[in-house]
Amino acid sequence: MREARVYSELVSHRASAEELRRRNPVALILSGGPASVYAEGAPRTDPALFELGVPTLGICYGMQLMAQDLPGGRVDRTGVGEFGKTALRLRGALGRELAEEQTVWMSHRDSVVAPPAGATVTGSSETTPIAAFEDEERHLYGIQFHPEVVHTPNGQQVLKNFLFGIAGATPSWTPAAVIEEQVERIRTRVGRGRVLCGLSGGVDSAVAALLVHKAVGDQLTCVFVDHGLLRKDEAAQVVETFSGLGVQLVHVEAQERFLARLAGVTDPEEKRKQIGEVFIRVFEDEARKLGDVRFLVQGTLYSDVIESGGGDGVAETIKSHHNVGGLPADMRLKLVEPLRLLFKDEVRRVGEELGMPERMVWRQPFPGPGLAIRIIGEVTAERLETLREADAILQDEVRRAGLYRELWQSFCVLPAIRSVGVQGDSRTYGYPVVIRAVTSDDAMTADWARLPYDLVEQVSSRLVNEIPAVNRVVLDVTSKPPATIEWE
Ligand code: XMP
Repeated sequence: MREARVYSELVSHRASAEELRRRNPVALILSGGPASVYAEGAPRTDPALFELGVPTLGICYGMQLMAQDLPGGRVDRTGVGEFGKTALRLRGALGRELAEEQTVWMSHRDSVVAPPAGATVTGSSETTPIAAFEDEERHLYGIQFHPEVVHTPNGQQVLKNFLFGIAGATPSWTPAAVIEEQVERIRTRVGRGRVLCGLSGGVDSAVAALLVHKAVGDQLTCVFVDHGLLRKDEAAQVVETFSGLGVQLVHVEAQERFLARLAGVTDPEEKRKQIGEVFIRVFEDEARKLGDVRFLVQGTLYSDVIESGGGDGVAETIKSHHNVGGLPADMRLKLVEPLRLLFKDEVRRVGEELGMPERMVWRQPFPGPGLAIRIIGEVTAERLETLREADAILQDEVRRAGLYRELWQSFCVLPAIRSVGVQGDSRTYGYPVVIRAVTSDDAMTADWARLPYDLVEQVSSRLVNEIPAVNRVVLDVTSKPPATIEWE
């Protein structure tokens, strides 16, 4: 829906028809799902929603739910399921501007064997005679196939037919519209209060800060705690970008404090804990210096909201995650979360619209504890410097090869061990650098990236030639699982 520039929200199937009516939707979509409508505990919707007069599209399970709940409809386990690409004949309003024969993605065991009374069958495949139905009068539509997946090449057009042709929606959900709406909301929430935002160098906190700045200008102060564990030039980029855009920024150079705390620490979780503790202390000190601050900006995304149980009953708690800046309860800050309705790609588009540099907008995910968990062993200034240089070379070459955006993450790891090498006439005893590059959609699973050998060769020779402490380069060829993306 959002790709079609129509704002959409996920709500629970338990929402009553009355709740849905109050939201005043232009259209409703009942999604697919893995259950059988006959299974015990299968998700149900309030049948009264079909009486709202709101154009409603049931997809797969959603279609079957309609057929089950509406008079005349029936769903059966016919014994012939359909999985994968399927040829479908599609007519009616949903098939407008499309050839009658379409390739669609099917994934169902049960089938609708009788459409609801008053509905016309408008789609069929060889094994599923009722693969789509429409009841124009009651604005009820059902499709057995999945229009939302890439394997249904014209699926987006089917959705557009529903949104624009049937429901009369307008394609007005654009980055500019998001900004305008959020700016209004932030102003209403914040009033004349002062607002604090912790910047991590990542895209979410940066976009959130810029939105708040656009809304309330100098009422916002950003605090950027530089823990010295960022990649090359990143800290300077944050400072430059934000100063350039006129945002009040406190740049706390706390590198020494973090390094001192990390001395002698080798255990990964202990590193995280120490970094988290110092981070909060430093952030808190700065926040107190600012005096009467009422609000804290947090870059919560829609995906976080969904993961923590949906848009409605989510408690407004500050994440304990250190890089968002967990603050002590006695500061009693209220949250401002301008990205709460956005997915990551939308955040990026908003960032571009707000004038953030391309490098920052498209940055790959980077862990809060930064390079500290990419040095295997104790973190020292010398090792940080070596890793930072190595990482910069890799990023440089990956970008030059045009692969930066394709990769979920690409980075170097520095195991604090040494191996023997030979350079010129002398033996060396230097660090190995590991190249880690993965493709992934969500970091839950990942595949090692098949980097072109030419690229690997170029990176390898630059690493050993340009960094004296490095004399060996290895490539990590493990997926997740069984490995994780990071080494620690
Ligand atoms: P793993 O290594 O568990 O990482 O496969 C999955 C994703 O999470 C990131 N990651 C972290 N992010 N703090 C963070 O903010 C952390 O301590 C941390 N550890 C891992 C990692 O970069 C990958 O994207």
